[in-house]
Amino acid sequence: MKAKKQIRALVIHGPNLNLLGKREPRVYGKTSLQRINQLIQAEAKSLNIQADMVQSNHEGELVDLIGGAKVNHYSGILINPAAYTHTSVALRDALAACGVPAVEVHISNIYGREEFRHQSLTAAVCVGQVSGFGEQSYLLGLHGLVKILRNK
Ligand code: DQA
Repeated sequence: MKAKKQIRALVIHGPNLNLLGKREPRVYGKTSLQRINQLIQAEAKSLNIQADMVQSNHEGELVDLIGGAKVNHYSGILINPAAYTHTSVALRDALAACGVPAVEVHISNIYGREEFRHQSLTAAVCVGQVSGFGEQSYLLGLHGLVKILRNK
């Protein structure tokens, strides 16, 4: 019998998320990105999957990461596109083209904030979106992604 391939998730953090913990703590909490990555890693271990984390402030680099996910043997993407959620057709097109399912996450509830944050250009090409649960959004999103990948 063929052994099942381990699920590999690429976790992508967009612009300014490197500043988490110090950045607008009333909106984004006091947890650093390093700590969030540790929480994701622990959750990945309990789900028996592999997760690799990357952060970039650069739109083109994010496009390259998304576009390279399949050839780099990732089975799915968990992404917080941050401000590019609301502006980037390039990220949307990359997510639509990448050939693996993606889940979008936000720490804050983007629908309860300024009007310009209510629109996500990227969510429609993701399998789902989690918004407003603080750092837990990443863990909930990871569970959703793994469920979709296991049902494939
Ligand atoms: C964010 C929400 C975005 O509107 C914002 O630009 C961010 C972070 C969130 O995780 O709540 O940088 O994606």
